[in-house]
Amino acid sequence: MNMNPITDTLNRPLRDLRISVTDRCNFRCVYCMPREIFGPGYAFVPRKDLLTLEEIARLARIFAQIGMRKVRITGGEPLIRRNLEHLVEMVSAIDGVDDISLTTNGSMLTARRAIDLKAAGLRRLTVSLDALDDETFKKINDVDYPAIRVLDGIDNARAAGFNDIKVNAVIRRGLNEHAVMDLVEHFRGSGCIVRFIEYMDVGETNGWNLDDVLPAKQLVEQIHARFPLDPVDPNYRGEVAKRWRYRDGAGEVGFITSVTESFCGDCSRARLSAVGQVYTCLFASEGHDLRELLRSGADDDALLSRVRSIWSARDDRYSELRGLNVPIPGSGRGKVEMSHIGG
Ligand code: GTP
Ligand code: 5AD
Ligand code: SF4
Ligand code: SF4
Repeated sequence: MNMNPITDTLNRPLRDLRISVTDRCNFRCVYCMPREIFGPGYAFVPRKDLLTLEEIARLARIFAQIGMRKVRITGGEPLIRRNLEHLVEMVSAIDGVDDISLTTNGSMLTARRAIDLKAAGLRRLTVSLDALDDETFKKINDVDYPAIRVLDGIDNARAAGFNDIKVNAVIRRGLNEHAVMDLVEHFRGSGCIVRFIEYMDVGETNGWNLDDVLPAKQLVEQIHARFPLDPVDPNYRGEVAKRWRYRDGAGEVGFITSVTESFCGDCSRARLSAVGQVYTCLFASEGHDLRELLRSGADDDALLSRVRSIWSARDDRYSELRGLNVPIPGSGRGKVEMSHIGG
């Protein structure tokens, strides 16, 4: 393949593409799709506006030509998208792509679906689960969904042969801090790596407040007091989670410190929304449209040159600037919702 990796204005290569395949979800997590806003009257993207699976795969091939190696499929809830396995198949066949993973809420991970995803070439899975007790979990998902069914989804994935499964838990002060030790105790020694995520100010609808954030450092101390931990080096440059290992050999936990310790310096992630907008930062207010170009009959060279110019102009480092308390370019224009770009 004619590979020509490029870097942005801060010398960061493009390595990962996070692809959102739908803006819909069957959950209404209070911090992501609060019911007051994402209720019955909410205008989700009409079908014709969604990129087709073939269009997505074509764009992924273009991104691979400028250095993309890792793909993560997200949503909304990506398993809502019919025939998603076909996308997995097409993306895993791309020259240069060596990792393909999926972030899901686990509710649609039936035994059949897990087997099909595995057969299509999916390598890794991340399941979001913010509490194990139903009182808290149902308060968060707001659709009365019991935690045990998410655990069943994880079991189905394991039975299908997925052995690299992570569990993501967003911790919000006053909502689910008690879930931390529950999750630690449940998943220690299971082979699943739990990662605690600091609650972030993504989007415009979750009413974020810095007081709601539980700094990862506190969580590390809390867990360490019960199950001693040692730090582990990152798996790769720019890894989002900070890794810790249980001293007794029961595996690892991770912490995603997007608020208290930003990681923009090594950020090599681009995000593609379900309607074909490219976002160069999770906190961007505007995307760069590729759908129009795609549907106007542009050839690969035209798409390549567009993607190239988007990435080479990139200067985003939102979390870093937020931490420094300096004005952030473009802020005040409204940030894209998490459900549009899948985190
Ligand atoms: P691995 O490939 O397994 O390392 O996964 P990952 O951590 O890149 O992906 P995942 O979808 O599990 O992300 C975990 C959390 O980190 C999500 O809540 C994301 O929103 C958040 N996250 C991922 N990338 C970024 C980023 O570039 N910036 C910020 N601020 N948060 C991010
Ligand atoms: N802060 C942190 N993480 C969030 N997620 C969704 N909204 C937020 C937020 N405001 C998480 C989901 C999922 C991942 C893709 O992003 O729980 O694990
Ligand atoms: Fe759905 Fe995930 Fe958002 Fe919850 S956090 S509403 S599961 S997309
Ligand atoms: Fe990357 Fe933006 Fe997150 Fe910084 S805030 S790590 S630039 S996505």
